[in-house]
Amino acid sequence: MTGAPVICVDGPSGAGKGTLSLRLAQGLGWHLLDSGAMYRVVAHACWSRGIDWQDEAEVVKTAMGLDVRFVPDGNGVTVWLAGQEVSHEIRSERGSLGASAVAALPGVRVALLDRQRSLALPPGLVADGRDMGTVVFPDAPLKIFLTASPEARARRRQTQLLERGESVSLPRLLEAINERDRRDSGRSVSPLVAAEDAIVIDSSDLSADGVFRTAMDCVAERGLELR
Ligand code: C5P
Repeated sequence: MTGAPVICVDGPSGAGKGTLSLRLAQGLGWHLLDSGAMYRVVAHACWSRGIDWQDEAEVVKTAMGLDVRFVPDGNGVTVWLAGQEVSHEIRSERGSLGASAVAALPGVRVALLDRQRSLALPPGLVADGRDMGTVVFPDAPLKIFLTASPEARARRRQTQLLERGESVSLPRLLEAINERDRRDSGRSVSPLVAAEDAIVIDSSDLSADGVFRTAMDCVAERGLELR
């Protein structure tokens, strides 16, 4: 499907996909696709224009005409919408809610497909998302499905938000994570499931270093770091 090798990192929110994907991309010197940021920026653009997240026709129109730039930096990507940096806003709890709402609209997923695939450029791409291995890059030579218990994910999300100065209680975050899981797994298009040929890593009791080492073993087994 594409000329460059792709490593897919799929899984539920808060399992550590972002951290793992960034470390893999940096370690291998490959490009990084944060597909969640694409859904987040669509939701943000709609919200700032007063478009309802359920209004599929308008949301699709917004997604198709998005003037967005993803600029790699040491921490992942900074996101620019119509010349304005929105990296912080899109990663708020409102951004999470909006992203999962617009991501359930089939037309929005189609609208973003080409944009996602166009990022598979040499020397390779690490693609972080929910359906990278099942829909976007089904021929990828390595698919990792990173998961963790809802409690472990809620705790991590709380730490992440606190670092950004947002304080949200653990029970509320757990509820939000369960709700987002239900929505992501239950939707009719691209539901959150592991690809049949994915390697499942449970990060509940692993450090970020432990997850990275396990993933790098898989990379080495597939001979990907030698390319
Ligand atoms: O990964 P992140 O938490 O930033 O994704 C935000 C939301 O975008 C997810 O909860 C999910 O609903 C949606 N998403 C998706 N498919 C992807 C990436 C994200 O549906 N490939």
